[in-house]
Amino acid sequence: MCGIVGVAAERDIAPLLLDGLRRLEYRGYDSAGLALLDNGGLKRLRRPGEVARLVEEFERQPLEGEVGIAHTRWATHGAPTEQNAHPMFAGERVAVAHNGIVENYEAIKEELTTGGVVFSSETDTECIAHLIDAELSAGKDLATAARDALARLKGSYSVVVLAAAEPDAILAAHRGAPMVVGLGESENYAASDIAALLPVTRRYRFLRDGDLALLTRGSVEITGAGGEAVERPMVESEFGPESVERGAYRHYMQKEIFEQARAVRDTLLPLISGGLPDASMFGPEVGAKLGEITAVHIAACGSAFNAGLVARQWIQDYAKLPCTVEIASEYRYRPPPCPPNCLFLAISQSGETADTLAATRAARERGYRAVLALSNVATSSLVRNVEHSLLTRAGLEVGVASTKALLTQLAALAMMALALARARGSREEEIRSLTQEAAALPGLIEQLLEMDGRLAELAGNFRGREHVLFLGRGPMWPVAMEGALKLKELSYIHAEAYAAGELKHGPLALVDDRMMIVALAPNDGLLHKLRSNLEEVRARGGQLFVVSDPDANLGHEDGMIALRLPAPPTALQAPVLYTVPLQLLAYHVAVQKGHDVDRPRNLAKSVTVD
Ligand code: F6R
Repeated sequence: MCGIVGVAAERDIAPLLLDGLRRLEYRGYDSAGLALLDNGGLKRLRRPGEVARLVEEFERQPLEGEVGIAHTRWATHGAPTEQNAHPMFAGERVAVAHNGIVENYEAIKEELTTGGVVFSSETDTECIAHLIDAELSAGKDLATAARDALARLKGSYSVVVLAAAEPDAILAAHRGAPMVVGLGESENYAASDIAALLPVTRRYRFLRDGDLALLTRGSVEITGAGGEAVERPMVESEFGPESVERGAYRHYMQKEIFEQARAVRDTLLPLISGGLPDASMFGPEVGAKLGEITAVHIAACGSAFNAGLVARQWIQDYAKLPCTVEIASEYRYRPPPCPPNCLFLAISQSGETADTLAATRAARERGYRAVLALSNVATSSLVRNVEHSLLTRAGLEVGVASTKALLTQLAALAMMALALARARGSREEEIRSLTQEAAALPGLIEQLLEMDGRLAELAGNFRGREHVLFLGRGPMWPVAMEGALKLKELSYIHAEAYAAGELKHGPLALVDDRMMIVALAPNDGLLHKLRSNLEEVRARGGQLFVVSDPDANLGHEDGMIALRLPAPPTALQAPVLYTVPLQLLAYHVAVQKGHDVDRPRNLAKSVTVD
């Protein structure tokens, strides 16, 4: 989604802004622009398409300035054209870059148009520039003008503003969408994501909802929702520029898949103590309550939702607790009844997904015993908005498609299920042995990554397909859903997942010799059932691609493509391990089709609009 960066310094900052935009590219966007205060006047450059196009244009007609803002736009209102690219101007007096959506912009636009304002774009953002301009013309200073203008807007958003009237300052506002202030030496920064600022600072102040920050090169003044001066704690980040280097890998996604053993190891390490799950993983207060928990509700989106579905099985099987998993955007509007002593868990890699944040806000009103977050970003809005959180240790994930973040979520969720089981009186020996199975995951993931070459070869079978069905049973069903999600988002092949038993209730009608069917076949109690499903497919000419345990004895049949895991996983390990070949498969299919695997079309890394 959109990205914002702003800098106030004592040097020419155009290169810093452009570098910041490059670092925000991973979030997904379709146009880019920057605006600078140049000798007291506002100048801007905008281009549809990639930041590289903006940079080319900048080289032809360079701008200079010591105070400026820049933006990558993911179109919501109006096509991704130059006119609709940010920063938006009101005359050459005010420039605004904006993330999120102004829900009441139509009414404001009508009012402004009636008053004689001429709009030059189709965006909701332009309203903000004109509203601030009007307040400045009434004699207000930038902070007051911005506060009064923003008070008229509905929706969830963040903005940065430049005004020719205050040429040393940048105004940054957090209204439901993230905004962080970076602190430098004789320079200060604002950004929607610390990724933009990694080369220039590790010191941040995270704004809270309703905050405004007025930055100059030498000062940062933050005011809260009521206009009162507030202090926001200074946070020193562990991430530096190296956190987002691609190294020798061809793509970030490839690097991130290959980092998974390390990421899972780092995530598991602090969750295991004395060979058992650490009950305090969400903090001692939650640890003390675990034995009283009667149910778990999970809300999440996309891959994180799939992780939640796998966790449901573990929580039911090991802790013997009922668990419901809802897509976060659905949870908001039809939350399940909340029984006494129920836990709520939001799962979000970025911790910035608007729907997950909204579901969590709704959950906080509903009398849960505790509202928990599982996230990969310690400084995210989600983590900052709940009392109890658990962090995965994937490191920054740049590829839009979630890989290492998902696997670390699964690892953490397995340990959470075991902590609940232990607190509810399961036999210690059983929990100890399951914990050992979890602890063995990093080594097993390393072995699986050796299948990369084979998957690159097999990916050729998918290149020309238009439709792929993924089948799994039990905990392999959400893994099939994850496989289908990865394939469709990266290769643009239509892919769907079904619980294998559902095949004959409809999707079998689609099966003919053009259809590829990926079946996940661990050697468990459901294998014989799955075999019958596969026969149904074969009988109709469907091409089968079976990922199985080495001892499942599948894949000798004519025309069946077989991929066997190097070692049979346990029931706890299987959902984690079966995910890895599906990631590699989706990666190679997309690369072979010539797609941008790190930035698939129409998608954004963190979906900050609902
Ligand atoms: C798929 C993918 C998305 C995210 C989803 C939630 O590969 O990356 O489906 O999983 O947008 O994102 P987070 O976890 O940041 O809330």
